[in-house]
Amino acid sequence: MTVSQEEFRRAMGCFATGVTVVTVDDDGKVEGVTANAFTSLSLNPLLVLVCVERQARTHAHLHARKRFGVNVLSEQQRAIADYYARPDRTHDRAEQESGARFDRTAHGTPVLQGGLAYLECRLQTVQEAGDHTMFIAEVEDVSVWEGEPLLYFRGEYHKIGPPF
Ligand SMILES: Cc1cc2nc3c(=O)[nH]c(=O)nc-3n(C[C@H](O)[C@H](O)[C@H](O)COP(=O)(O)O)c2cc1C
Repeated sequence: MTVSQEEFRRAMGCFATGVTVVTVDDDGKVEGVTANAFTSLSLNPLLVLVCVERQARTHAHLHARKRFGVNVLSEQQRAIADYYARPDRTHDRAEQESGARFDRTAHGTPVLQGGLAYLECRLQTVQEAGDHTMFIAEVEDVSVWEGEPLLYFRGEYHKIGPPF
């Protein structure tokens, strides 16, 4: 049986995830992309995996800069998730159109304000996989804040419910 891309998308959409924006420095500007293909990979050493479409603008910057941030979005940051999934996004209009504001780490990596967590990552291995690239990176620093996550399920954003 051949699985269509649509069936694959529908099946994968059942797997509820958080939402991140992967951020990378671009000569003082912030390049970023909304990504939920993000997972922890190893505890020793500390490794994460993020998968980015080869055609995406951010892809080349991740390759070039070799250091990036993974920002875990809070439920207040839906507009930021939308903005960094838009093909016409620009550094200059990000704050005005989505409310995104950034700090910089000591390494110069852009950090999104108001998120739930931030991981600063140094690229270790790149593996091509179909139309995406797997970026495997060592975690150099993390920050964690209070708050509730933005979730993505069946193609829509959700808020988390109470624990049961
Ligand atoms: C909730 C959500 C999750 C996404 N996850 C990923 C992802 O993990 N990897 C990816 O390459 N694109 C992902 N995308 C799509 C990119 O954010 C979008 O295609 C982006 O605009 C690509 O950059 P480009 O405009 O430079 O092509 C996701 C989009 C949304 C809304």
